[in-house]
This record gives sequence, C-alpha cells and structure tokens, in this order.
Amino acid sequence: MKLLILILLLAVCRAVQAQQIGLIANTDGRKTISLDGQWQTIVDPYESGYYNYRYQPSDNGYFKNAKPKSKTDLIEYDFDSSATLNVPGDWNTQSDQLFFYEGTVWYKKSFDYPRKPDTRLFVYFGAANYFADVYLNGEKIGQHEGGFTPFNFEITKLVRDTGNFLVVKVDNKRRLDAVPTLMTDWWNYGGLTREVKLIETPATFVHDYLIQLQKGSRQRVSGWVKLVGEKLSQRVTVRIPEAGISKTVNTDAHGFAEVDFNAELKLWSPESPKLYDVTIEAETDQLRDHIGFRTIETKGTDILLNGRPIFLHGVCIHEEAPLRGGRAYSREDARTLLGWAKELGANFVRLAHYPHNEFMIREADRMGILVWSEIPVYWTIQWENAATLENARNQLGEMIARDKNRAAVVIWSVANETPLSDARLTFLKNLISHARSLDATRLMSAAMERHYINDTTQMIDDPLGEYLDVLGCNEYVGWYDGLPEKADRLEWRSKYQKPLVMSEFGGDALFGHHGDAGARWTEEYQESIYHHQIAMLKKIPFLRGTSPWILTDFRSPRRPLPNIQDYWNRKGLISNRGEKKKAFYVLQQWYKQL
Ligand code: GCU
Repeated sequence: MKLLILILLLAVCRAVQAQQIGLIANTDGRKTISLDGQWQTIVDPYESGYYNYRYQPSDNGYFKNAKPKSKTDLIEYDFDSSATLNVPGDWNTQSDQLFFYEGTVWYKKSFDYPRKPDTRLFVYFGAANYFADVYLNGEKIGQHEGGFTPFNFEITKLVRDTGNFLVVKVDNKRRLDAVPTLMTDWWNYGGLTREVKLIETPATFVHDYLIQLQKGSRQRVSGWVKLVGEKLSQRVTVRIPEAGISKTVNTDAHGFAEVDFNAELKLWSPESPKLYDVTIEAETDQLRDHIGFRTIETKGTDILLNGRPIFLHGVCIHEEAPLRGGRAYSREDARTLLGWAKELGANFVRLAHYPHNEFMIREADRMGILVWSEIPVYWTIQWENAATLENARNQLGEMIARDKNRAAVVIWSVANETPLSDARLTFLKNLISHARSLDATRLMSAAMERHYINDTTQMIDDPLGEYLDVLGCNEYVGWYDGLPEKADRLEWRSKYQKPLVMSEFGGDALFGHHGDAGARWTEEYQESIYHHQIAMLKKIPFLRGTSPWILTDFRSPRRPLPNIQDYWNRKGLISNRGEKKKAFYVLQQWYKQL
C-alpha cells in the first residue's frame, strides 16, 4: 500500500513537472503577486539539506520545512528562526560572511493564496544564480540552470489557500562544464538576484507572441500568437489602437496562429523611441504590451536602422548596482545606468556578458538606447560537452523568448573572447543557427579573436566571422597590449565585408588618483588611452560601432591590488561611487560630435 502511494505521489510530481509550459514571456501585462522582500535562509555549504551523510539525495531535506511535532522529534534546522535575506538581491553584499561565499543557500517564503476557479497559477523567477531547485509545500516543482535568465513553474495543482511554503535551493558553485565556466572577470553574485512573483492566468491564456516588423519591411508586421490551456482554437485579435490596427486571426488546434498585416507605424529609433500600446485579445484572456517597431539590417559594412546607416556609439555595462554595488535588479538601477550612458552621448549599450534584468531592456526601449544582449559563453567553455551546449542553447532561448518584442534589442551575441578551435566553431555555429531559428529579425554577433599579421596591422579573420552579421572585437591597445600611443601606428584589416563593432577597449584608473599620463592607474593614463584609441578608431573604414570597457567600475575576484583595485575592475569611466573620471569626458566629446 505504502509503495503504491509513493508511486502515485511520484507520478503526480512528474506530472506537475512535466506540465511545465516554458517561459511566460510577458509578465508585465499579467495579474501578479510579488514574493519579494525578506526570505528566511539557511546557508548550507555541505548541502546537508539535500544530501544524507552517504551523499545520497535525501527525501527529507530542508525542502520539507519540517517542524518538530513533539519534544522528542529531531529536526536540525528551522527556517523561521534563521537569518533572512532580501529578495531580489545577491547574498554576497548583504552579509560580510557571504561576501566570498560560493555554495548553496536555501530560501523559504511562506504565503497564502485564496484559489480562484478557472485560473492557473505560476511562480516566476527573474533569475537565480546559478542552479535552482524549487519546491512548493515539500514537493519538487522544477529546477533551472543559468544565472541570468527567467523561468517559471506551474503550481496550480499544488498550491493551497493558506500555509504555502516555497523553498528554493540556490547553488552558485562554479563548474568547468557550466555556462559561464570556472573563470570569469565578474563577481559570482549568488542568490535570488531578481524579482520573484506569482502569476495568475485564465485556464486558457496567451502564453507567448511575437509582434515585430518583418525583416527588411517598414510596413509589414509579421508574427504569431500562442495560447496554452484547454480551449486552444479561439478568435484572437491584435489591436494597435493608435495605428488603427485591429487584426483578428483564428488559432489552430495547438493554440497557434500567425499574424501578418500592413500598418503605417512611426518607427522606433534613439531619436524618437516610439512605443505603441498593443493588446492581444483572446476569447478567454487579454494581454497588453508596449512595443516599438523598427528594422535592423546590415548592408556591406553598414548597419541600417530603419533603412538608414547608423553608427552605434555605445559603452559596455555590467549588471553591477550603481553606487551601492552588488547585482543590479531594479528599474531605478536601470535608469541610473542608462541615464549615465545617455549622458555620455551613447545611443547603444553592450550588456555584458549575460542577459541583464528586464528593467534594463524595457528602460532601453523607453529611453531609445539600442542593445547588444549576450549569453555568458565566455572564455574557455567545454566545447565538446553536449550538456554544456544544451545549457547554452537553453540560456539563448530564454534570453530571446523574454526580449524578442523589444525594439531596443538589435544584436544577439553568442560569445566573448573564445579561443579558436574546430570544436568552438561547431558549438558557436550551433548557437547562431538556433538563435536565427527563434528570431530572424535581429543581427547576430560575438566578441571574436583578432591577431597581428605584423607589428602594426591587426587582422580580423576569425572563422566565426563567416556566420555573423556584425563583427565584434575586443582590444586593449595601451593597457594589456603596449602603451597608449601604440594605437597611433595601428591599422585594422578584416577578411569580411561586414560592419565592425569594437566591443571592448580601455584601461584601469582609480578615480581621484592623479599623475602623469604615463603612470598606470591614474586618470591621466586612462584619458590618454581614450585619446589614442579614438584617433585609431576613426581610421578604421568598416567600423560601425564602439562599446568601450566599461561604464562603471565593477567587482571582480581577479582584481586584488590593494588601495587601487580592492577587488574592483577599475576600467569604468565612472567609479563605483558614481564619480566621472577624465576619460568619461574624452569619450563624451567624441560621441557628441557623432
Ligand atoms: C576582457 C573581458 C572582460 C574583462 C576585461 C578586462 O576582455 O571580455 O570581461 O573584464 O577584458 O580585462 O578588464
């Protein structure tokens, strides 16, 4: 009898896990209940809340949130009398003890939810770094790998009116086969780093949609809608009231319908970031979004926005919270960072080296800033590991799923500074074709390798360039590669008739540290790098964009130099306290001219 119940319970769990429908792309227009705030936590370096002493997964782990039922009961943990951490937020900057911590932390949140008939309920995570095992009321509902993309699980069948407990095991241990792999130049902030919320939907609802201009057309909107639930064949109307659009389609037996129509639309651009109110009305559900319409293409070495050549004058940004440090997560963080980029004169940002939070993308949409978005295939990934490839594909898919309706996002990047090899090329080609199959409207890029063919000539002939629309290259002439004036003698060549974005250049300077321009770490040295760089960049005939490294100083475990770095990468044009360095104004002056 016991065995039968166990098999049945396992079957229910599997059914619950199997029922997962994939990412709910637009949560903005949905009824949501925030679970942000204080969560009880247990720091568990030995994962004794998951494994028993034989290092076997235990059925009675911390996810059970057990309480002693009698004075003889032996329970060796108690969430409710444990320390709390803020969600969203990394754990490293919330407690000195956890500053360098890499391992497992258990999170628990209790909540009531008066269930409603004919509705479904999902728990949604903006991100959890790095590996999350998620439980509701003691049952496993799912797991997710990857620290920078959203995921959700359905809990309709498991949730109860009162006394629910959501437990998440978050493990940010680095692994060789992971994405990113062991070595990065950013802080491995762990935890529930972005918002957590409950999403309520009708039994059959609009799960996903793409409403964008067709590649190369400035009138033809081409996309699709997808319903999930019981009643899949429905009439669905896409409305853009301001443009007089009301297009009705019928979804098929799978809940899918293509949507195509002509429209006179004001095109989105940095000068006028026009967003339209778009509603998707099904018989059982209605969803609202704010969507901009623009085209992005390349022609020879030009990048064309809405059919016209554009120069992407930008800057790189890490998701480091401005002024306070730690993983950025809020709309205010996004507005501050993008506000500084605007002040610099940027019309473009490279969000490095992983998908940033949705507020960054939505604010870029609203502020008119073009975005390069990237997955953390960074440095030496395990190219021949099938699970690593699947993981990278999954992160790419989630990034595209969340942001495919954002006009601001114009470039998907699949890699940064990855060493040449056949295995690497095969891996990255796989990612590029995956991205193109998910979204044919945007440009593909990566920060590729380049090399000297003689002392004064850099050549871009990385075989990866063949498969990209935009070439990306990082160079540190004047910092890792010679002194600033070396740039004056350099010429750049490319094997490809394609546009180049110089995706990184720059050098370190400690704000307020002054000296002659030949002294490293001074603002004057960094300023000198920028003067020489800009002169060199202006001479590159196929250059169509720049995103120097980097807008603000950011934490890195690879930068211990006392009184200068103190675990900060100091290549920011702005310090971690928001102070602008001299180089900021050198770049600003150039960008203002462009
Ligand atoms: C690299 C890398 C960055 C790194 C930077 C640096 O090119 O892409 O992630 O932080 O150089 O060394 O500062």
